[in-house]
Amino acid sequence: MTPKQALESGLQLDIEAMEPALRQRIEAEAKTDWSPVQAPTLNDPNAMVAMVNANAVVGLVAKDSNRDGRTDILRGDKVGVACTICHTITDKSVFDLKGGGSIGRRLDGPAALTLNVGKLLATAANSRAFYPNLQQTFMGVSIGRAPSGLGPKSTEAEVDAYLGNPAYYPIGTFDETQDGNGNPVKNTPLFRQDLAAPYGSAGEFRLLDDISNASYTTNLDPTTLVTPEGRRFLEMKAGPAGRQLANEYAQILRETGVTGFPYVQAAMTGKVGDPASPVGRRVDPKKLLDMNAYLDSLPAPAAPKVDERMAANGREAFRTQCTQCHNVDQSRIVPPGLVALKTLWPGYRPVPVGKRGDSKLSYILNSRGTFDDKMIVVDASDREEKRGNALPLLLDLDRTNLFLHDASVSSLDSLLDPRRGEKSPHPFYLADAARRADMVEFLRGLQVAPR
Ligand code: HEC
Ligand code: HEC
Repeated sequence: MTPKQALESGLQLDIEAMEPALRQRIEAEAKTDWSPVQAPTLNDPNAMVAMVNANAVVGLVAKDSNRDGRTDILRGDKVGVACTICHTITDKSVFDLKGGGSIGRRLDGPAALTLNVGKLLATAANSRAFYPNLQQTFMGVSIGRAPSGLGPKSTEAEVDAYLGNPAYYPIGTFDETQDGNGNPVKNTPLFRQDLAAPYGSAGEFRLLDDISNASYTTNLDPTTLVTPEGRRFLEMKAGPAGRQLANEYAQILRETGVTGFPYVQAAMTGKVGDPASPVGRRVDPKKLLDMNAYLDSLPAPAAPKVDERMAANGREAFRTQCTQCHNVDQSRIVPPGLVALKTLWPGYRPVPVGKRGDSKLSYILNSRGTFDDKMIVVDASDREEKRGNALPLLLDLDRTNLFLHDASVSSLDSLLDPRRGEKSPHPFYLADAARRADMVEFLRGLQVAPR
């Protein structure tokens, strides 16, 4: 992969992390047409390696396979992924590639909404090792955006074709539920998390450190699912389909020579299935609390200047139509209750599609359409809450190009336009185009006063 390809996949380059000579070349080449003649560094895979080693490709971490702690040489040609790949952007001070990544100074917190996670996973030598996060078929049922599911015999090329197709795995999303369903959801902001509880769009986590722990112990290391605790977790969640998933995944790991897992360093602690320890593991508690403090402290981006008269009209309409659920003032904590799927989506018609191992949880239900796909297996019933959605922070909306957790809407205007249909998710509309424009102006202007 070259730095140019990295940017085209939506990765961000941290200009300050590059050593001075490389930095100067990148700054100069960014102003050219990016052809191999004009921009040799941007087209050079060795420059990419140098950048990864310098920690200048945001979220890609050099892995020293000799485990002697040196990260200055990339001996194993392995990279790990950090939270920042999805939850950090740059200030775009050097370059902003339209629809892709950027070059500049790191800005932690804003969601990477042009990151092509599917394409990046397809770039990996063994994409089949992401099996639990791909769309599969269980007992004849396949849920996701592709017409049919993958299976244990799917080839690397077939898995790459699925991951690399934005119609199945949209840009700006990540499939973070390890349930064998194809249900990527849009990347979320990580600034001002003190205001954002509960966490996860289905409100699965009451506590911030719990979602971070789950991210480390399952999302960033899916191999925990074939440990005894991981198997128990899958069985509780999805009964026979969970067992099938674990067996097929173990078989793929064997076939593709993946050994030495699980990789995440975590203590064996807590009850399996508990949001604090979904797969019976917890990473360093001190680091989790440090992470909480950091995520709580990250400032929300300042909003652009908006038309005051329009925004004032929009605010009035918001107060009559939207405050049943949302706060007007975004510096207050979002209301903590979940909004039931039926309330949010009049077209919700769930049918049971599978049995759980744990009878205390909700049924495994599916309705046509993508809006409930994230919640088919994993919802807030873990913590005895209803199946529904958490309220999002209405911040950084001017930059946002994807709306609703399933990334099904691409602009604020269309979110609020009744032409989406009265049975569609979040059907809270303003029929009059001028009133809609006022509301959009109000929403674009929302921000939190600095502390
Ligand atoms: C490959 C992309 C990706 C990576 C890597 C990633 N996340 Fe996320 N994160 C997401 C997505 C997508 C969501 C939205 C999930 C949802 O809709 O429930 C999310 C949601 C969250 C939330 C909930 C935000 C809220 O207000 O509900 C937190 C907190 C979070 N991530 C923390 C982390 C931490 C900590 C790490 C590193 C250990 C991490 N994430 C790694 C993509 C990622
Ligand atoms: C019945 C409760 C409810 C009402 C009424 C409601 N919303 Fe929402 N809104 C939600 C929930 C819940 C979500 C998150 C949906 C999801 O997870 O996909 C949301 C999402 C949004 C988003 C998308 C945020 C993002 O980053 O994707 C915007 C913008 C928004 N609402 C604006 C409005 C406006 C404007 C109104 C009034 C016209 C309104 N909402 C009325 C509950 C509501």
